[in-house]
This record gives sequence, structure tokens and C-alpha cells, in this order.
Amino acid sequence: MSQVSSVSFDATSRTFLLTTPATSYALRIGADDVPHHLHWGGPLTLNQAATLPVYDGVISSFASTAGEELGVEGGPRFGVPSLLVRYADGSRGVEWVHEGHEIDGGRLRVYLRDRHYPLACTLHYTVHPDSDVIERSLTLRHSGPDGGDGGEGGAAIEILRCDAAAWCVPATSGVRLSHTVGQWSGETQLRRTEAPYAETVFTSRRGVSGHFGNPWLMVDAGDADESHGDVWSMVLAWSGSWRITAQRDHTGGPFTVSGGAGHEGLTWRLRPGEQHRTPVFAGQFSTGGFGGTSRGWHAYVAGHVLPRPDEPRPVVYNSWEATGWDVTPHGQRALAERAAGLGVELFVVDDGWFGARTSDRAGLGDWDPNPERFPDGLGPLVKEIRALGMRFGLWVEPEMTNADSDLYRAHPDWVLHMPHRRRTELRHQLVLDFSRPDVVEWAFGWLDRLVAAHAVDSLKWDMNRAFTEAGRPSSPDAERLWTDHTRGVYAVIDRLRAAHPGLRVEGCAGGGGRADLGMLARTDQTWISDNTDATDRIAIQHGYSQIYPARTMSAWATDSPNPYTGRTTPLRHRFHIAMAGALGIGGDLSRWSDAELSEARGLVAQYKEIRPVVQFGEQYRLDDAVQYLTDDRVVVIAWGRDRDLRLAGLAPAARYTDEATGAEHHGAALLAHGLRLRLPKEDAPSTVVRLRRL
Ligand code: DGJ
Repeated sequence: MSQVSSVSFDATSRTFLLTTPATSYALRIGADDVPHHLHWGGPLTLNQAATLPVYDGVISSFASTAGEELGVEGGPRFGVPSLLVRYADGSRGVEWVHEGHEIDGGRLRVYLRDRHYPLACTLHYTVHPDSDVIERSLTLRHSGPDGGDGGEGGAAIEILRCDAAAWCVPATSGVRLSHTVGQWSGETQLRRTEAPYAETVFTSRRGVSGHFGNPWLMVDAGDADESHGDVWSMVLAWSGSWRITAQRDHTGGPFTVSGGAGHEGLTWRLRPGEQHRTPVFAGQFSTGGFGGTSRGWHAYVAGHVLPRPDEPRPVVYNSWEATGWDVTPHGQRALAERAAGLGVELFVVDDGWFGARTSDRAGLGDWDPNPERFPDGLGPLVKEIRALGMRFGLWVEPEMTNADSDLYRAHPDWVLHMPHRRRTELRHQLVLDFSRPDVVEWAFGWLDRLVAAHAVDSLKWDMNRAFTEAGRPSSPDAERLWTDHTRGVYAVIDRLRAAHPGLRVEGCAGGGGRADLGMLARTDQTWISDNTDATDRIAIQHGYSQIYPARTMSAWATDSPNPYTGRTTPLRHRFHIAMAGALGIGGDLSRWSDAELSEARGLVAQYKEIRPVVQFGEQYRLDDAVQYLTDDRVVVIAWGRDRDLRLAGLAPAARYTDEATGAEHHGAALLAHGLRLRLPKEDAPSTVVRLRRL
């Protein structure tokens, strides 16, 4: 069923209905003025929604907050509070008064305020015509007189927690959670686990969204698979510390998932007159299993998140694995010549081109080209790269400084630090405080000059360490920096892109430590892991693909044996696995034989041919294979073993021809019986099959 997305309201029952193409979501302002959750699932009419009862387990010593659109503290509520506040007189909690609403196309704003204290709150909901994703966020406003700090109305309100939204999933017999876990070099490992009867917290306390978990969750009754079953999913669009708390209790209430920026223990103050808007915590209900859920998110990211979704992502060469910090014009030129010969479109010089950056011990913060290595600046190298027909990209890590840098010597107060505490160095570096306007201004200034000086086409924005001693001694309200730092990063990238409309940006944080919708709203691609071993990548890419689309997934073919794992794999396998996303090459091309270069050239050409399908098609995760589908083309990247691989999403009545062999297949046969796969007889065999609809 396809409905027109809309927001409607029944004044008698005070029920709101959000309609998306295939789903409905309903809430009601109760007699107590509390926004109660009613429905999130298949289509309903407003009349039907108006008859739904609210979950009434709330008023009891034994109940939780389940069933509210935003759990708060106050009265008989004992579950997860999405909003925790403390007023100057020591009182806590909220007693809601409903102040009306506004509906504006696909947007709903519900206005609430506290019955006594100067706290106003707006619940925001947005639906889009082409997506079942519902965006939710919150605005908090201190409605007291501006500037005062004395009386009740004029004192700041302490915010102990301010989530963006709480999602309620209808009670089912089982509750299974899907999420990712990980580590450096092993990000986005998919896990599925029965939810305990408890509060389960998924979080990052590191200042970035992190390697160890990614800010999203899928919920199903335990019966969904790739192609069938009801799945409720929630994704937080935030790149700093975060927390998602899932709550399952025995009382039969809905399963609740509250999420937002920040982690436990952080407190900040909302000042009189101040307004705070949370990031978006978006949700999607799908009946199409995990595959349908992922395709829904991929389409949403392309349609409503990415700044330039339609750009075919270029084939990249990146020097990091080849040269490490040993960046010289001569070495880069030699790599660039070989890369250009392979058909590479964008050449990226990674870490080691600036300041005293000949190792990880010095130079971060000093963003002029290393004077010994580049006595004439970057200009001559950039010119040569362009003369070879490639675009030019540069690695930067703007949020960091080494203690051994001119920047730190001049501005030791610019890093996160606390009085009487050590300044912990990780990878010999310290975090610059991007919540400071002067630091943000400095960062924008040098980046703007650098991009302008060389018409830089692409930046790889890296971030290689977690926050520690996250304080700013001069600030009475220092814990705000946990969110303000992230907003500072966003502001610099947004401003840079506005000043240089052609600029593209790849997000990175020590591999995939900041892969999230917050970064994707202002970047084009994500470097998802420093692990480039094709075998390990299969699992990492599988986890990444749960939410994020292939066009955003940077993937390099590198050397064999792999420098991180030592594993030996055939060149074509390394390429095939990287061709499942935005292909790059990261190997030391100076050591590749003529035969390897020639094979690589053919594989790059093949990638360019399938690129529109991989980057812009719909993705189906199959058994040891990924399939991409557009109206008239199918690309299958398969590995593992010979078999008949059942394809997905095809038109049963259509016929398809294999572009390599000319063999013809009926859609129905490919769906029911499969495509006969014969893989090369080698270790780590793989293949790419291209079909065209007749
Ligand atoms: C971490 C990144 O993930 C790598 O690709 C590389 O850019 C290094 N940092 C450089 O220091």
C-alpha cells in the first residue's frame, strides 16, 4: 500500500496521525496533557487511530514510563527518563501542560511547557513523501527572563539528560535487538541478541560516535530475516558521545528506545532565554525484514541526508598504506603516475605532508607543507597530479594537535584540559576544543586558505583519538563542550562546503570511528575501517550496509599480503570486495608487477561500468554475495563457493541477459532457482556478474 505522507489531527480525541507511504504513527495528548504513544506500524486512518486506547500501565508504583512520547521524571514514573532536569530550588522533573501544536506540510510541532517552572519543550516530527523514515527531535527553551540569575524564573536550569526522542515498539512475544559492536580495525560487526528484561544501554563516551558501537538499533520479534518480517529501527544523527537506552519490562508495555546526544553523568545549564535543539533520532517501521529496512535507510540517506547524493563517487587512490608518514613529492609522483595509468580519478595525499609530521609524534596543528619535503609548497605536485588527469585530495585532522607543534606551543589553552589533571596524550596528540569560537575560526581560516590555494577537490577529515580530561577551566559550564565540540566540527565543514561548493569531504576517525548520519549530512563518503583485508572487510561492510548506502562506503583494494592481517588474497578478490562500495586503491603501486597493474586496470574499468548500479541501485544482501538493482540492470558480487544463488527483487516475468556470456535467464527462475555461479579455482574466489533486463 502506498499512501501520501501527511500529518493529521483529530481535535476531539487530541490524536495526531503521521502517515508515510507504507506506515502510520499515532500519538495522543492525554487528559493529563502528557503526549502518549498510540501506534507505530501498518497503515491506519485517523478515525481508526482516534479509537486506540493509550497504554495505561503508567499510574502505578510498579510501572515504568513506557508508552509516553518522551519519558520524563516526575510523579509515578520509574522507567527511562528521556529528559532529566533540575531547577535552581532543587526541584526536579516535569509536569506537562500542553500548549497547542502546529502542522506544516509533513511537519508536526507539539508545544509543551512545565506547569510551574520556565521550561518549554517542542516535540518535532517530520515525514517525507518518499520515505517511511520519521524524523524526531526536541527543542528545549528556558522561557524565563533573559539575563537574570537570581529568582526562580531567571536561574539556569540544569540539564542532566536530554534525549531527542523515545520510540515505542508494540509489545511482542519476543524482542530481538540488532546492532553493531566493534573496535579499531574491526568496526560494525553485526550482532543479534534477545533483549533482556532490563535497561540496556548502547553508548559512546569518547566524543565521537565510535568504533565500539554505532548509534542505531533494530528491533524485531525474533522472526525477521533479510527479506521478511516486521522491523522497527532507530538511527541517531549525531557524531559525538551518545546514548541509546532500550527498556523491556514484564508489565506488558511497549518496548521503549530513548536516544540522544551525550552520555550519563554530563550536566549542563540551560540559561534564561536559551534554546537547545537536539539532533534527530529517526525511526522507520518496515515489513520487509532487515533487507527492506536497510534499503529504506539507504534511500532516506540519499534523499534527505547526503549533501550531493547524485555525484558518482570517483575512483580514489590514497597513499597511506603505501607511504605512511614518508610523504615526498618524488614518492607521491611515482604513485600518481601508476594510479593514473589504472584509471584513478582522485589522488589523495594522506598524513605526513605538513609541519614536522614525519611520524605521529609531531606537527599536528601546523598546516603548512613540510618545508624540507615540499620546499616549493604543494603547488608543483598538485599540478602534476592534475596533468595526469586526476583530481587532488588531501588528508587533514583539524581537531588535533601534537604537544610538539608550533600551534600547541602558542596556544596550550586551546586543548581540552582540566586544572590539576594530566593532559593525556593518545597517539601523542591532544584534542583541540572545537566548542571555542576562536578555535573554530582558526580551523576554518587555514582550511579555507588551503582549499583555495590549490583548488583542493577533496578532503579526508580524520579524527584519531577519544576525549579525555574534557574540560575548559575558564568555563563555568564546561560539560556543554561534549555537544558544542561536535557542533563546532559541523560548523567548520558546513562553512567550508558553502565557501567551496565543489569541495567533497570524506569522514574518518581512525578508520570507522565516526560513521554516522551527522557526518553524512556534510560529507560524501566514510572511511569505514583501517582494516583493508578483503576477508575481514566482508563482515565490516555487511554491518555498515545495515544503515548506510554503498555510495558512501569507501573501500580500497590494497596489497597482498595485507599489511594489517598478513593474509594473502588474489588481486581480483581484493578488488571485487572493494567494488561493493566506492572503490579506491590503497596499495603500494610501486611494488605491483606489470601483470598486476594490467589486471587492476581492467578491474577499475569494470568498476566504472558497474558504478551506476552499485552506487545508485538498491542493495540486496544475499548469501555470501551482494546484489545491486536498478530498473534495467543487476550486478552481483559473489564470493565463497560454486552454487545456485537466488537473486532478489527482480521482475519475475522479465528476462535478463548475462552481459559477459549472453546467456538468458527468466526473472522467475533467477528468483526461485538462482543464478548458477562458477567461481575461479583459487583461494578466496569471487566473481562479478552483470545482467541486463531485456
Ligand atoms: C587513520 C586513518 O583511518 C588512516 O586511513 C590514515 O589516514 C591515518 N589515520 C593517518 O594518520
